[in-house]
Amino acid sequence: MENVTVIDHPLVQHKLSLMRRKGTPTATFRQLLLEISLLLGYEVTRDLPVEMEEIETPLTKMKAPTLAGKKLVLISVLRAGNGLLEGMLDLMPSARVGHVGLYRDPDSLVAVEYYFKVPQELGDRQVIVVDPMLATANSAIAAVQRIKEAGAVNIKMVCLLAAPEGIKAFQDAHPDVHVYTAAVDDHLNEHGYIVPGLGDAGDRLYGTK
Ligand code: PRP
Ligand code: URA
Repeated sequence: MENVTVIDHPLVQHKLSLMRRKGTPTATFRQLLLEISLLLGYEVTRDLPVEMEEIETPLTKMKAPTLAGKKLVLISVLRAGNGLLEGMLDLMPSARVGHVGLYRDPDSLVAVEYYFKVPQELGDRQVIVVDPMLATANSAIAAVQRIKEAGAVNIKMVCLLAAPEGIKAFQDAHPDVHVYTAAVDDHLNEHGYIVPGLGDAGDRLYGTK
């Protein structure tokens, strides 16, 4: 798969397996997603540009690498995206944050927007969109479309689990956006759920079912 990075680090895979278990309680599920988001965040920021800045240690002066350019933008696709956002913000505390509110109509599986608020000057910034599930990809495709309309040019998409069908649809719609995921599962079922998957990410994250 072009333009897709599967982050198969053993820690990520172990934590994901714990999340998949149907008996994993809500608080544990949330904690695991936070821990995984730190590991995914590490990978997705691997190619951030750095510049050398002169600093003074207690012993001497030196040229030290620091992040270059404007602040990153993290955009969460509500609501389950917030489960990834939290850890990413721990890693990148000065990132700007946007939110795209979308829910998937259970019958048509079409993504319906109910909220959109993103930082300004998106065109000059690296944008990282987070949503744990890429199933049909209707939500991610719609979110990225709106984010592009708001001016973003450099976009990465981070999820936890993806279906092959979703990856294909997403790449057809946004071939310029690299996808990072912890796993690509087998298929989508007739209700658009990822199989084997982990169920409904939002419900499991917030205990709403
Ligand atoms: C889930 C998930 C994604 C979407 C993925 O959100 O968080 O946004 O489904 O499905 P898709 O790829 O087929 O669009 P959901 O609509 O359940 O909303 P929620 O996050 O508010 O629970
Ligand atoms: N949304 C989820 O939360 N889980 C799926 O399996 C598919 C869409």
